[in-house]
Amino acid sequence: MRATIDLAAVEAMDAADPLRAMRDRFILPDGVIYLDGNSLGAAAPAVFNELQKAATQEWAQDLIRAWNTAGWFDMPVALGDQLGRLIGAASGQTVVCDTTSINIYKVLHAALGMRPNRSVIVAEGDSFPTDLYMAEGVASTRPGTVLRLEGVDAPTIEELIDERVAVILVNHVNYKTGQLRDMAALTCKAHQVGALIVWDLCHTAGALPVELDAANADFAIGCTYKYLNGGPGAPAFIYAAKRHHEYVHQPLSGWWGHARPFAFEQGYTAGSGIRRFLCGTQPVLSMRALKGALDIWDDIDMVSVRKKSIALTDLFIQLVEAKCGAYGLELEGPRDGNARGSQVSFLHPHGYQVMRALIERGVIGDFRAPSTIRFGFTPLYVGYKDVWQAVEVLEDILRTGAWQEARFAVKTAVT
Ligand SMILES: Cc1ncc(COP(=O)(O)O)c(C=O)c1O
Repeated sequence: MRATIDLAAVEAMDAADPLRAMRDRFILPDGVIYLDGNSLGAAAPAVFNELQKAATQEWAQDLIRAWNTAGWFDMPVALGDQLGRLIGAASGQTVVCDTTSINIYKVLHAALGMRPNRSVIVAEGDSFPTDLYMAEGVASTRPGTVLRLEGVDAPTIEELIDERVAVILVNHVNYKTGQLRDMAALTCKAHQVGALIVWDLCHTAGALPVELDAANADFAIGCTYKYLNGGPGAPAFIYAAKRHHEYVHQPLSGWWGHARPFAFEQGYTAGSGIRRFLCGTQPVLSMRALKGALDIWDDIDMVSVRKKSIALTDLFIQLVEAKCGAYGLELEGPRDGNARGSQVSFLHPHGYQVMRALIERGVIGDFRAPSTIRFGFTPLYVGYKDVWQAVEVLEDILRTGAWQEARFAVKTAVT
């Protein structure tokens, strides 16, 4: 199969794609091939409809009554259940709220509280930095807490797990390389020594199927603005397994997590169930945008999403290596589709300039220092011909040396 594929074969893949019609549910600007849905998902008219309704009817006309009449107050849990279907969580265990960073803080703190005689947090040295920053923040409030890092304190996370570990914070898909972890196996390893585990699903939710309940996971957190297309700054989520609800206490004990928020009592009493992970008033308009985005998933089966994701990323790797192999690109991350998320990264010594040149030509991916060019493939709106065309542009930029133009070396804030 290698290097023999041609444009006709790629077009045939699009024609046979069962998810092809989903593309029409998104707005993709002319002249853009969007390979950055792993950073910020595309906009959908359904999202704008929800926003419009929430603003012009519910807020403008119903005013404060809308907290009840439009279900605003219950939205964090209702959306949590809707999202839960995509991450293998039975209802009542997922809540949409706050940001991923804040949710990491809440959940890590809560997990440490559940293991009072243990003092170690295990995480990955190459984690997305906010996970580590938040772990440091949690540790700073609990004297004696130690952070053990994969790649720093031992080569693999498995080697760091022992009876002193209270909680492991781990990414299901590595944000830079796309490397996928075995959720069931690592969760089992954590439980064998009595540790808890928190899965960061930022690069998983909406990208590939995951079974939190079946894997016996303890907690998970993640964002909704990537593959779930909830919009910039869309609220994040927390999953907490039902078996922990009774014992878990998170530190941001605001009134929305109180057992009786409208009793305005003195003293905090945690609410029951997943609501106890809430803190304060939630961003209703952003929640409504997310509802519009999640509704799109109601008819979608994650197995076909995964199948297409692997086919898109395999095709991209195959074409890049066949057409651009001579220009100093090196695959970063797994070659085996079953071992990666829905993204592909290549190393290039001048990756920053190459990505700037690509973006100028309408192929939007992103760059991660020091030398990673990263491409995300959202199966709902990226087609096989997009992959073909993106590689043609990349090949042209590398062959002609167009990336060497001085202006591409000037640093801008690239996401
Ligand atoms: C793995 C991971 N965790 C966390 C975050 C971001 O957290 P927040 O939404 O709080 O900015 C990202 C953002 O890209 C991420 O990739």
